[in-house]
Amino acid sequence: MWIGDSLLFMWIDSHLRPDPEGRKDVAGVTWLIHGGGYYHLEKRLLVPGRLPPSLRWFWLEATTTWLSGFLLLVLIYYMSADAFMVDRSVSSLSAGQAIAVGLAMLAGGWFLYDFLWRSSVRHRPALAIPISLGLFVGISYAATHLLSARAAFIHTGAMLGTIMAANVWVHIIPPQWKMVQAARAGKEIDYTLGAHAKTRSTHNSYLTFPVIFLMISIHFPALFTAPHNWLILTLFVAFGVGVRHLMLVGPTRSTWTAIATAASAVALVYLTTQPFGSQPPPVSGPAAPAAPAFVEVRTVIVRRCAVCHSANPTVPGVSAMPGGIAMDTPAQIRAAAPRMKVRAVEQKTMPPANTTHITESERDLLARWIDAGAPLR
Ligand code: HEC
Repeated sequence: MWIGDSLLFMWIDSHLRPDPEGRKDVAGVTWLIHGGGYYHLEKRLLVPGRLPPSLRWFWLEATTTWLSGFLLLVLIYYMSADAFMVDRSVSSLSAGQAIAVGLAMLAGGWFLYDFLWRSSVRHRPALAIPISLGLFVGISYAATHLLSARAAFIHTGAMLGTIMAANVWVHIIPPQWKMVQAARAGKEIDYTLGAHAKTRSTHNSYLTFPVIFLMISIHFPALFTAPHNWLILTLFVAFGVGVRHLMLVGPTRSTWTAIATAASAVALVYLTTQPFGSQPPPVSGPAAPAAPAFVEVRTVIVRRCAVCHSANPTVPGVSAMPGGIAMDTPAQIRAAAPRMKVRAVEQKTMPPANTTHITESERDLLARWIDAGAPLR
């Protein structure tokens, strides 16, 4: 509802027409159709001494979204920080240090953003916007070089979500509260307060698509484990910001945004369809090595995969047959072979964050076995 509100209010504001009756306290009107009826919207300015009979404030959506997201972050990431926050192939941070980095991103991101947009630089968007983007790229680069890839993605999203929620609490609700209090007391109203709230609301609407993408990014391991994952992350954010702009401002009035958005989409397609790592040279003819014995393959799987991929996993917190895959019997192992090749050999996204320390030669053994047709001999 928060994200929907944010975009709908922005859309309404940018599509208001002058009041045909020319009333002074009406900033604009528009008509919408939905559910078989017209909605006649009038944007009324606040007038001292006049209050509407009922007034809905939009703060609960932001608050419950942030709180539930933070709770999930603690439950899933911080309670299993060894599995989800830390990746030894990226940095040597301990679980506690990785959590500290994550929390510092949430607080630090807001602090930097708010500092910048309170300073006098805010009057010069041509400077403030590139500085904001530069800071964002720097932070996402650092995150992907300190935390496990999925933790880096989710924390970058949580950082943007925190900025959005804090905007609501600090810059959007309180100034409008002051305006309504002034109207109630019949005092003069400071309309610059509303303009300030509107600026922060506009920032929020630009962040909605990037945050949605980052929230669901963990479902796409191929994205966050790609070699230039920080670049992919940045391009997705640029793409989301561009789409928001084109949706509400229109492509004809923003040719450069349209070009930049299309370019980031093309770059994303290119980067995310690149094959992972170096492909082994094709083996051919009689020199092709014989398939490894199944008993060797099974030893690797029991040690590195079946601790999770079982009807009775022995890793705490893992539910039975993650991803719908069990590797308890030879037939189950064989059936999973094609997806094993993708996840454990090509993408290397299994085991997650290499929790069970599979070696390169073991991955190679799996690859050779699968390429030879996954025989159960
Ligand atoms: C720490 C627990 C754990 C270990 C160890 C583990 N997996 Fe997984 N696996 C998961 C979870 C959780 C999922 C579901 C989420 C996902 O797809 O990322 C999954 C999903 C999968 C899938 C199905 C998803 C798809 O893309 O088709 C395959 C195949 C797979 N794992 C292969 C392996 C192989 C091969 C190994 C060993 C080299 C392994 N896994 C080790 C937890 C584990």
